[in-house]
Amino acid sequence: MTEQGKRRLRSQDWWDNPLEPDMTALYLERYLNFGLTRAELQSGRPIIGIAQTGSDLAPCNRHFLDLASRIRDGIRDAGGIPIEFPVHPIQETGKRPTANLDRNLQYLSLVEILYGYPIDGVVLTTGCDKTTPALLMGAATVDIPAIVLSGGPMLNGYHKGEYAGSGTVVWHARQLMAKGEIDYDEFMDMVCDSAPSVGHCNTMGTASSMNAMAEALGMSLPGCAAIPAPYRERGQMAYATGKRIVEMVWEDLRPSKIMTRKAFENAIFAAAAIGASTNCPPHLVAIARHMGVELDVKDWEMGYDIPLLVDMQPAGKYLGEDYYRAGGLPAVVRELMEKGRFHEDALTVTGKTYGENIRAMRIEVDRRVIRPYDDPLKPEAGFLIISGNIFDSAVMKTSVITDQFRQRYLEHPDHPGIFEGRAIVFEGPEDYHERIDDPSLEIDENCFLFIRNCGPVGYPGAPEVVNMRPPAALIKKGIKALPCIGDGRQSGTSESPSILNASPESAVGGNLAILKTNDRVRFDLHKRRLDVLIPEDELRARQEELKRNPPKIPPSQTPWQEIYRSLVGQLATGACLEPAVMHLRIVEKH
Ligand code: FES
Ligand code: MG
Repeated sequence: MTEQGKRRLRSQDWWDNPLEPDMTALYLERYLNFGLTRAELQSGRPIIGIAQTGSDLAPCNRHFLDLASRIRDGIRDAGGIPIEFPVHPIQETGKRPTANLDRNLQYLSLVEILYGYPIDGVVLTTGCDKTTPALLMGAATVDIPAIVLSGGPMLNGYHKGEYAGSGTVVWHARQLMAKGEIDYDEFMDMVCDSAPSVGHCNTMGTASSMNAMAEALGMSLPGCAAIPAPYRERGQMAYATGKRIVEMVWEDLRPSKIMTRKAFENAIFAAAAIGASTNCPPHLVAIARHMGVELDVKDWEMGYDIPLLVDMQPAGKYLGEDYYRAGGLPAVVRELMEKGRFHEDALTVTGKTYGENIRAMRIEVDRRVIRPYDDPLKPEAGFLIISGNIFDSAVMKTSVITDQFRQRYLEHPDHPGIFEGRAIVFEGPEDYHERIDDPSLEIDENCFLFIRNCGPVGYPGAPEVVNMRPPAALIKKGIKALPCIGDGRQSGTSESPSILNASPESAVGGNLAILKTNDRVRFDLHKRRLDVLIPEDELRARQEELKRNPPKIPPSQTPWQEIYRSLVGQLATGACLEPAVMHLRIVEKH
């Protein structure tokens, strides 16, 4: 027992182990050299790690360098000792070939730190897309008390008085440039105007979605996710989070008690209601697998019938500040709770259940931005899981289906929900960029655009490339989107209802590799299938040919890419490092 009369913490194995005075001295002396005292470290007080994701290389999370001082204040005021440390940086748009490669690297780096150093609990500073799943996966594996502090979105962006939302503005601007309505400089200005302050993407892209997922899982304090980065409430939330993690250490409130099957189901329900990113299914499956919770990509369909409540880009029109002022995730969860579509009894980092948290909050809802369950923006707005003869599973985000797309492809008077067309196949993003405007492909509104060799192994990390714009000639005719299918991912800020994350990917022998340009393809919404319409013997002949001539995978450019490719699984199972999934809960009760 410590002098506070509370239980002995794991950090004391380093700082105060009477059986090994020489090791204790060695562990202690170096942590004193910047001013900590032996009395502090041997006091038995919780050592709280601050997993710092911010740096000049990671601008979406950079303000955590300042917020850390408020986290420290909270930790000190609650009787803990803060130890801030860096984890491998991730920035979504700056990292080549894709930041998703580094999700598993940041995960590994966090696991090594939490396991190998004297840390009793940890604050996870999450923001930019992959930082949230990476840190939650790490906390799940090590299973010491952990709490999420989201960084929050940037302020709303504006260009010429109109909203300019992160990422989404790019998809608009590239259509305007393809039509010749804006030039290169205006294109740059439009896009850069979407980033007016510190913080992560201000649309409901992967960053806002995954931070909402962390909150829906119960891993952050209520109301944390949506607070814009520069708002005073963000600093106040940092302070409250620092205080709470110290109490969580004394309560031994670990991720395994919070991230249960019910918590993941809550995340799925919330994802539908907010119009969350297509990156959520693979990330949530990955977190669940590291937590040892059964979660299949098909489980995402349990949220399909939930309506879209949040009017935020890319599915709607508003941006992060509006969403926060409208009530943020607590307002959404309250709507779901009232309809019995949220597990109120799921435990959260507060030590209380979700229902207790929400009922204790005063939530003023702005109905322009967060709609009532019975008067939603769109009915049935969750994810669909599509299968067929060219892949076992793929994800379709239905909240971004526009009226034009629905009428053209899903509401044919003779066969509603069924669309048949001609396949145009691209071998990867380079091939797509080179040929999309090639008139000899004769791409018209009855074509499906396919992209392959873009899965976790093929183009390591699975880049966000499936949302392909139609040829400029079609855009000029008013066709803004064609059905897009691929084994890569797409940006959470994209408004394309693509069928993506197709698994298994072509590079590991998936049937997407046997598809040929001009094949007939059928999408059947009722059966949730996408099939290439070729006879069975032709299909088998092509498979045989594929075995003789497997797709050529370009060589890895870095050692990590090589290691990643040799260990990574498919998007349907979270694109985890498979050997890592076996190491569950490595820190047992202390
Ligand atoms: Fe970092 Fe969107 S690019 S949050
Ligand atoms: Mg992205």
